[in-house]
Amino acid sequence: MNSILLDDKSQEELNNLLKNIKAKTDSFLGYPVSKDFNIEALIEFLKYPMNNLGDPFVKSTYGVDSREQEKEVVAFFAALFRAPKENWWGYVTNGGSEGNLYALYLARELHPKAMVYYSEATHYSVQKNLHLLNMSGIVIKTDKKGEIDYSDLDHNIGMNRHLPVIVLANIGTTMTEARDDVSKIKTIIRNSAIKSYYIHADAALSGTYSALLNPKPSFDFEDGCDSIAISGHKFLGSPIPSGVVVVKKANRDRIARAVSYIGSLDTTITGSRNGHSPLFLWYAIKTLGIEGLKKRAEHSLNVAQYTTERLREIGIEAWKNTDSITVVIPALPEQLSKKWQLAVEDDISHLICMPNVSIEQIDHFIAELKAELQLA
Ligand SMILES: Cc1ncc(COP(=O)(O)O)c(C=O)c1O
Repeated sequence: MNSILLDDKSQEELNNLLKNIKAKTDSFLGYPVSKDFNIEALIEFLKYPMNNLGDPFVKSTYGVDSREQEKEVVAFFAALFRAPKENWWGYVTNGGSEGNLYALYLARELHPKAMVYYSEATHYSVQKNLHLLNMSGIVIKTDKKGEIDYSDLDHNIGMNRHLPVIVLANIGTTMTEARDDVSKIKTIIRNSAIKSYYIHADAALSGTYSALLNPKPSFDFEDGCDSIAISGHKFLGSPIPSGVVVVKKANRDRIARAVSYIGSLDTTITGSRNGHSPLFLWYAIKTLGIEGLKKRAEHSLNVAQYTTERLREIGIEAWKNTDSITVVIPALPEQLSKKWQLAVEDDISHLICMPNVSIEQIDHFIAELKAELQLA
């Protein structure tokens, strides 16, 4: 390639962008994104147009790829989520939203006339997905902490007993990180004598570490779900938004379609798929291992507990769901929310204690909060 020289103005723009990104990364407590990944060993790969187009489990004529690593990533999550031994399949997505879209697409192909049930605390992308897929849905109430209201679910399924059921369960809602219980959901469906059903677990933030908790929340394949989607840039960490979706292979086989142009199966939502994300996730899994992931979870849970207690000490009504790393607080003054990038919905906000968040950072935030609220 020819020498790459920017004109002075563009170079300055680039420098300023980097400065801004660095500063914003340091004051970042409101979104579930890990910032402590280290991909120095992988920088060389950014020089290549890696593309895992098509199905990761079927070779393609396009060979500049990371299919082998992608398969290992999917296998790791299939084992973590106790997917049936010879009956799982999946791929690395562009994020949790795509994973949910894929799972809902699969569910629709299996049960075209189904009604989709999901709670009012569900991520905004799900409604868009249902619209794109032309699927009908019913929004179910939640309790005060964001968990689905099982009696409302039971009632609504009962009112529509002539229709197959698709439930989208939240394993960590966006605002309060509440978990819906997949076993309870399955019992409700069975008690309604409904034979055709599908349960998808949206485990964007919490799935990865929930699988390692003891006692483990009920959400995985053995507990009764048919698919799980997570985000890769959330708990694991990745410089590019990414995700993983794991489904039952027998279900995916029903919608696979061979395409001669790519020499692979057109089983994924997008055609071209970036080959770098699978590599970043593979590297994170290999370097951390299960023990490293457990340590990350322990750290986050401890920091979340510390944050809740410190905030309550200064009179802020902070709370968190059991075994969660999200601390829910009343919406704070705008300037502070802006600086620390705290999302606000209705009158609540939250701090998400991702693995990179330290006690020092929390102390810094609390000192600023005290100053802002003019507390002693
Ligand atoms: C519960 C839940 N589901 C899905 C998503 C979407 O994930 P992504 O941003 O990776 O597409 C989010 C994002 O925060 C989420 O909180």
